[in-house]
Amino acid sequence: MIQNNEKKVLIKGRNLKRYYYRAAETVKALDGIDIDVFAGESLCILGASGSGKTTLINLLSALDAPTEGELFIDGKNVIGLSENQLVDIRRGVIGYVFQKFHLIPTLSVAENVALPLMFLGMPYSDRDIDVILDSVGLLDRRTHKPSELSGGQMQRVAVARALAVKPKVLIADEPTGNLDKQTGDDVFALFLDLVKQQNIGFILTTHNLELAERCDRVIVLEDGKIIS
Ligand SMILES: Nc1ncnc2c1ncn2[C@@H]1O[C@H](COP(=O)(O)OP(=O)(O)O)[C@@H](O)[C@H]1O
Ligand SMILES: [Mg+2]
Repeated sequence: MIQNNEKKVLIKGRNLKRYYYRAAETVKALDGIDIDVFAGESLCILGASGSGKTTLINLLSALDAPTEGELFIDGKNVIGLSENQLVDIRRGVIGYVFQKFHLIPTLSVAENVALPLMFLGMPYSDRDIDVILDSVGLLDRRTHKPSELSGGQMQRVAVARALAVKPKVLIADEPTGNLDKQTGDDVFALFLDLVKQQNIGFILTTHNLELAERCDRVIVLEDGKIIS
């Protein structure tokens, strides 16, 4: 057996390109990205609005396919896979937190957290959901609807929902972008605590340098390219 002094690569991308074709122009949202994401690390993708951050993490989470390049997630080649096969790749590997939370308004907090487990056909009990809600400090809100929550609480439900699938990496698109500074700082601290406790990786995008400084590694994007 190989002894692990080296960090294990969880996601590997080579020469990743994602072009959007519009009427007369081609938008090169990503233009030749080489990236390795190591298991257990916190990785920040830093860049101005429009630099390609969302496009990049959507590729890294197998939510979107590159126009060109190689991409391996947990050792599996994801190029050319069908929607169903991509769901299989994500299962148990990727937990995704959307920028605007994407909670289902008609479902309770507990039901929102259980949703990906139902969707992926993973067995769970009410107790499992309560443990996850407790970890984000929202056990007492389990029967509430999202509209009855503050922005910070909604974000914590979104985190709980992403963690429900026991991912190897938690991926979050500007997780503090829709929150005030104090709430954003609190949610960010919670993210770092949770990923450390559960020994999982964390990839986030932000344009906030302060958040970037608290991550293990930072990649800076500009116009679809990594500049440092
Ligand atoms: N669906 C789309 N169609 C056309 N252009 C897009 C689309 N999504 C993103 N873009 C363009 O790709 C570039 C990168 O966008 P994005 O990844 O959302 O950047 P960021 O998340 O850093 O703000 C921008 O120029 C944006 O306008
Ligand atoms: Mg974005």
